[in-house]
Amino acid sequence: MRRVAKWLGYLAGGLATLVLLLAAGVYGASEARYRKEWPVVAKPVTVQRDSATIARGAHVVHALGGCTSCHGDNLAGTKMIDDPAFGRIYALNLTRGKGGVGSTLSDADFDRAIRHGLAPTGRALKIMPSTDYANLSDEDLAAVIAFVRSIPPVDNELPLSTVGPVARALMVAGKIPLLEAEHIDHERLHVLSVSRTPMAGYGAYLASVSCKGCHGPKLNGGRIANGPPEWPPAANLTPAGPTKTWTEEDFRRLLREGKRPDGSAVNAAMPWRHFRNMTDDEITAIFFYLRTVQPVAT
Ligand code: HEC
Ligand code: HEC
Repeated sequence: MRRVAKWLGYLAGGLATLVLLLAAGVYGASEARYRKEWPVVAKPVTVQRDSATIARGAHVVHALGGCTSCHGDNLAGTKMIDDPAFGRIYALNLTRGKGGVGSTLSDADFDRAIRHGLAPTGRALKIMPSTDYANLSDEDLAAVIAFVRSIPPVDNELPLSTVGPVARALMVAGKIPLLEAEHIDHERLHVLSVSRTPMAGYGAYLASVSCKGCHGPKLNGGRIANGPPEWPPAANLTPAGPTKTWTEEDFRRLLREGKRPDGSAVNAAMPWRHFRNMTDDEITAIFFYLRTVQPVAT
């Protein structure tokens, strides 16, 4: 009996050591990725401050980018995730108030954050969905910067974000793209501006900025990599999915009211509350574009 107990003791000790080594490995591997400083140089963009530019920036922030869903309605920051295992992640205060980054970020810093997913230090931002925003035109990026600089300062000092063991393990296992900067081609060229007509070309642009992050690069849906576990899979928006038979009115209703043609409500993970602020032309453009994409099974 004693001998068995002794061997069980060794086994438990061995397992505990293995778990510790694994934890140290995960910690080390994830920490190296957080600390990496990316030498990305943002292309200088010219930021005009006229009212039309600021209005376009407000539209991109509210209707297309959904920035407020994480940074808060007044962009003064929110606590996004508060879970000892996953981590404590804050979307920063973007205003010029106390605790805000609005007064310290240069235009190039804004570009690096929005289109490259990088902090001014060069480190990769966590959760910030820059894979989508990397598609923004220079003109729309400049409009976003002009708008964010125009909003009233709000004092809101937030603690530093921390990442817990579960998020680190999922990241090292390649299950969540926590650092979107790792998935962006930082050398890519950005379009200067996009013609805003109700046609497939503008629809393709809007889908790349607003839809593909969840519905996938081919828009065929499936599990949302960066979403919380309770989110349902995103729908297949290609002609191989259920929207194939929808009319433009059906599609407009989904984006404006969150209702499918049969009257059922879409899950709240689908951010139609932002998209309902899209213009009629924008919804038409996306509708036409979705008719032109390759049918791909989910
Ligand atoms: C899904 C949530 C989410 C959305 C949507 C989002 N952000 Fe962020 N953003 C974050 C988080 C979280 C951080 C902080 C990341 C960190 O600390 O590593 C951040 C950081 C930033 C920063 C970096 C500031 C700095 O000094 O490091 C800027 C600028 C920013 N966001 C602007 C925007 C804009 C503009 C939009 C919309 C076009 C947007 N964000 C949409 C989550 C989000
Ligand atoms: C933050 C993630 C997210 C983004 C961004 C997003 N969607 Fe969705 N969408 C979802 C999810 C999740 C569902 C499935 C909801 C459900 O099952 O009730 C969905 C469902 C839909 C549906 C309903 C399809 C059906 O068959 O019921 C349509 C249409 C749709 N999305 C269009 C869009 C368009 C167009 C965009 C871009 C303008 C977009 N979505 C952006 C998450 C997203």
